[in-house]
Amino acid sequence: MPFPLDVPESVLRRRRSQKWQAYPEDVLPLFVAETDVLLAPAIRDRLAAAVADGDTGYFTEIERLAGVCARYYSRFGYEVPEDTVVPVNDVGVGVRESLARILPAGSGVVYTPPVYMPFGPWIRRVGMSPVAAPLIGHDGEDPRLDLAGIEQALAGGARAVLLSHPHNPTGVLHSQAELGELAQIAARHDAVVVSDEIWAPLAMPDVDFVSFLAVSETAREVGLAISSASKAFNLAGLKCAFVVNGNPEKFAIPRSALSGAVGHFGALAAEAALTESLDWLVDMRAALSSNLDLMERLLAEHLPRARWRRPDAGFVAWIDLRAYPGLGDDPAAAFLDEGRVALSPGPAFGSQGKGFARVNFACSEELLSEAFTRMGRVAAARD
Ligand SMILES: Cc1ncc(COP(=O)(O)O)c(C=O)c1O
Repeated sequence: MPFPLDVPESVLRRRRSQKWQAYPEDVLPLFVAETDVLLAPAIRDRLAAAVADGDTGYFTEIERLAGVCARYYSRFGYEVPEDTVVPVNDVGVGVRESLARILPAGSGVVYTPPVYMPFGPWIRRVGMSPVAAPLIGHDGEDPRLDLAGIEQALAGGARAVLLSHPHNPTGVLHSQAELGELAQIAARHDAVVVSDEIWAPLAMPDVDFVSFLAVSETAREVGLAISSASKAFNLAGLKCAFVVNGNPEKFAIPRSALSGAVGHFGALAAEAALTESLDWLVDMRAALSSNLDLMERLLAEHLPRARWRRPDAGFVAWIDLRAYPGLGDDPAAAFLDEGRVALSPGPAFGSQGKGFARVNFACSEELLSEAFTRMGRVAAARD
């Protein structure tokens, strides 16, 4: 079983975070985006040392953390200046604060369903209104941004585009050509691109991630990227993320207002992750890729009519189950009720997700195999 996705279920069941608490013991949880790993040793040791020292006060090393994030993020296509990095406590805060501080109240914000389900609520929460420009071919081999649709929305008055790159749930990396054109479109309409890049560290082993901000000077003029070590190293509960401001002269995202809320443990863990745990990350990416190979076999065996596209990044897969009409519009509901497997319901990602489910495959081979065996039984019983 490939390290680091080799943690026994008995250990995972002791966890008190969402993935392992939301459902009763007979349910296999393959839903919320936490991973079934133990901490990378450098992170574990750093946090253990802080606990031993009672070092549990307020976070204060803003510049140090910004430097760590800038050096790490520079691998994604351009030299990130340290002073353009603003630590924030999570990606959601980074997205919402970026929108709220840059846009006039009530602005339209374009987003690309099917997409990470809080995007619409996040946009509304800061007093803006979501405008959907669905991905073209989200259910095929080559999901693409609807650039014409986005341009039309911006021409119609929307002021920003909220990207998910790499895209959750399809796992697609938007191409540099698309992103370059998106930057031009945004510039033409004086719009902002907020690129949620939380999955950036988890590109598959043979894939290179390139930040939206790296595709051109125009992209930096119109854009901000937001990322974190939290998905790659399973640190979401520790509260640490960062905004990279492509154009600090234009976009006022002040550290003084935002960075104080970063979790001290999140910052300690992020530094240990992004400086000392990159070999561990190589192992993690290889383990995820190996799980994709396994999933391909499991789908062929247990759900042969399901369609999917191997994700370029991340640890979620978007499964098209429409060829099993017995599973209905929300196959995850059937899998939960009858198979005791918890997936993320496709319709939660937008109306495009009817007949789909999202699988979190950052688990052991044993769990993945058992989950697909159960799902296959449910599909067969409902055929
Ligand atoms: C695209 C995307 N953005 C943001 C988040 C949540 O990030 P945070 O917990 O840092 O707000 C997730 C979590 O899965 C995600 O997939």
